[in-house]
Amino acid sequence: MRVVSGIQPTGNLHLGNYLGAIRNWVQMQDEIDAANRAQVAGGGSADKNQCLFFLADLHAISMPHNPAELAAATLEMTAALVACGIDPQRSVLFNQAQVPAHSELQWLLNGTARMGWLNRMTQFKDKSGKNREGASVALFTYPVLQAADVLLYQATHVPVGDDQKQHLELARDIAQKFNNDFASEDAPVFTLPDPYIPPQAARIMSLRDGTAKMSKSDPSDMSRINLADDADEIMKKVKKAKTDPEPLPSETAGLEGRPEALNLVSIYGALSNQSTEEILREFGGEGFGKFKPALGELLVETLSPISVRFRELKQDREALDAILARGAAQAREIGVPTLNAAYKALGLVRG
Ligand code: TYM
Repeated sequence: MRVVSGIQPTGNLHLGNYLGAIRNWVQMQDEIDAANRAQVAGGGSADKNQCLFFLADLHAISMPHNPAELAAATLEMTAALVACGIDPQRSVLFNQAQVPAHSELQWLLNGTARMGWLNRMTQFKDKSGKNREGASVALFTYPVLQAADVLLYQATHVPVGDDQKQHLELARDIAQKFNNDFASEDAPVFTLPDPYIPPQAARIMSLRDGTAKMSKSDPSDMSRINLADDADEIMKKVKKAKTDPEPLPSETAGLEGRPEALNLVSIYGALSNQSTEEILREFGGEGFGKFKPALGELLVETLSPISVRFRELKQDREALDAILARGAAQAREIGVPTLNAAYKALGLVRG
């Protein structure tokens, strides 16, 4: 198993990132670590089972940005990931900018990716909006860099939220076409990566609008729970979350057409590991006046230890630099064989 995933270091790490992706990164890290230990104890080698997690700082320059803020956010997001449980001793944790092979492989894959494929990407349509002509070329080719991110390491599993599904399908298409066009069937250059999208919490919605994704770019901070929010802020945001006037239903079907209620129940379920049915058995017939404080408490219980660790870690600039430097050195080494194979397959002469 090669687990690879990334996050853009823009804005704050929020509950959507945590429940949709980061929590699963930590779980996969722990499972792989346990499997590796068992393998080594049995006399085998654990080389191939590895997790690589990275700050997608190269992706972050596809939108207008402030360089000083990007540098600070890259370090802060590193601290946030470690606070969530990513252990740099057991996972390779780095930022793309320190591993030039990501950009190199992107260029090589640009020859394989088709304009028509990129034209269908919904993220480009969403982010460029009405100003398509003014969008950066990087925003358009963004999914090719994302393909390079995972193909470089022969990723088998990519834990992401639902919004990244289309980008990963594209990564598979690119890998498949490259293998077909430039490699023999018995020696493919790239592994086809599988997305791992959690059954619960794959798409956490905004607290202000149950039809919009919880997002770092939403101008209203009340729309999201940040992992750095303190208990009072969390409680305030949950109590002010948009809801309808009806009490909670007793059956799952009763949540249909009630996106805000569904979102809050889904968050509760993801945090408490309970199914919607179980939650509605307890809260069905109750108003939000009872449900919201229970949800707020659950959030505080889960997030406070993370935010305490985050506040400590983010002060230690030297330790964060060292984590990224070490992770980048490991990533550079792991990527060498695949990058070389891609150059060779394309007939590019390199001494
Ligand atoms: P990003 O930085 O937007 O988000 C990081 C991860 O959080 C998930 N996520 C959510 N999950 C559930 N509900 C939400 N409201 C929510 N918001 C975000 C995302 O699905 C993602 O898993 N393009 C990627 C970063 C990237 C990447 C990669 C990911 C670059 N290269 C290679 C995987 C593999 C992005 O912008 O994620």
